[in-house]
Amino acid sequence: MFNFLCKASKTTDITIGENAVSSLFDILEEERAKVFIIADIVPWNLYGKNIITKLKNKGIPYSVLTISSEDKNKNYTTFAYCISKLTENSIDKNDYIMAFGGGVTGDVAGYIASVYKRGIKYIFVPTNLLAMADSCIGGKNGLNYGNFKNIVGTVYQPDLVYVNLEYLADMPKKLITNGYAEIIKHAIIGDKALFNNVKLNKFSKIKEDVKASLLVKKKYVEKDEFSFGERRCLDLGHTVSHAVESKSEYAVSHGQGVITGIAINAIASYKNGFCTKAVMDEILGLFNDLGLNYSCPYSVNDIMPYLINDKKKEGDNFYIPIIEKIGKVRVVNMSQLQLKSFITSGLNS
Ligand SMILES: NC(=O)c1ccc[n+]([C@@H]2O[C@H](COP(=O)([O-])OP(=O)(O)OC[C@H]3O[C@@H](n4cnc5c(N)ncnc54)[C@H](O)[C@@H]3O)[C@@H](O)[C@H]2O)c1
Repeated sequence: MFNFLCKASKTTDITIGENAVSSLFDILEEERAKVFIIADIVPWNLYGKNIITKLKNKGIPYSVLTISSEDKNKNYTTFAYCISKLTENSIDKNDYIMAFGGGVTGDVAGYIASVYKRGIKYIFVPTNLLAMADSCIGGKNGLNYGNFKNIVGTVYQPDLVYVNLEYLADMPKKLITNGYAEIIKHAIIGDKALFNNVKLNKFSKIKEDVKASLLVKKKYVEKDEFSFGERRCLDLGHTVSHAVESKSEYAVSHGQGVITGIAINAIASYKNGFCTKAVMDEILGLFNDLGLNYSCPYSVNDIMPYLINDKKKEGDNFYIPIIEKIGKVRVVNMSQLQLKSFITSGLNS
């Protein structure tokens, strides 16, 4: 079992391993807390029975609310439905909300945990690779409004995270590649050894890659929890990704959007003199070796309208991470015109 802390406004205790979640039941028993589980129906049908058996064996009171985890449901309708069930079940500040699912479930449950009764205790059990390697820590959560992604949200750290590695065993290939989008992003931002590992081992060392990926993220979260500076590096590829996801009405997955966004950024970083051709080639070469399609289905004019409401925009300034080397990214300030020209250069390879 591998354990580490992420120390921000609240400290998150993260456990990674086969059956990592087992120690949770002792904590709940000791604290005499109820747990209200917000679960994505897909992994819950696969693994929920086991969790319920353990809760029952220890006599821990629980409720389960299943949701359909899709970006188009990451909204106030789902939020209101969850709140109605929390009040029906008289959940209070001694109790925990637990997210059981991927990035969407975590974003919804984390947002609810941060605002329900002005904040209650929060556990995240990520069930797909993207959530295991990225979204389970850092405390960002959010809801979409129409086609504007993550336009509402808070930063609220989970108390406990359990990365149950055995959930990886039967994970569909698409969810593995989606998760690798964020793993590769973390590698490009701050871990060349992780980049080389993925290059060498492809998808065969997932468990090691999950740990390394979370350790890169932890570093940025601890330094700059609220994204005033360095944490903006973690947005690499995400400005384009969010616009592409929104434009497609969420038919393009977040992982696919991030791969496209990173590729455009790598090409544009080279063309604008931030990195060498060798760096760009290494990134695109890795995507090709892994069979990750990075072509963008849209023109710059298609995606620009979605950038106007991007969270990285302040006045006429966008804070955009650019790539200098594998393992080194820097945030630069661009006007809307400069951003348009940057993206255009990345679209024309
Ligand atoms: N808060 C953060 O730090 C952060 C970071 C990255 C992404 N995100 C957000 O996360 C979302 C994308 O996350 P996602 O791709 O996990 O989306 P998701 O939660 O919709 O999960 C994708 C799919 O995985 C399925 N799934 C989950 N666990 C499974 C399992 N064990 N076996 C089989 N299927 C399983 C789900 O049912 C769903 O169909 C986006 O909304 C993005 O904005 C948030």
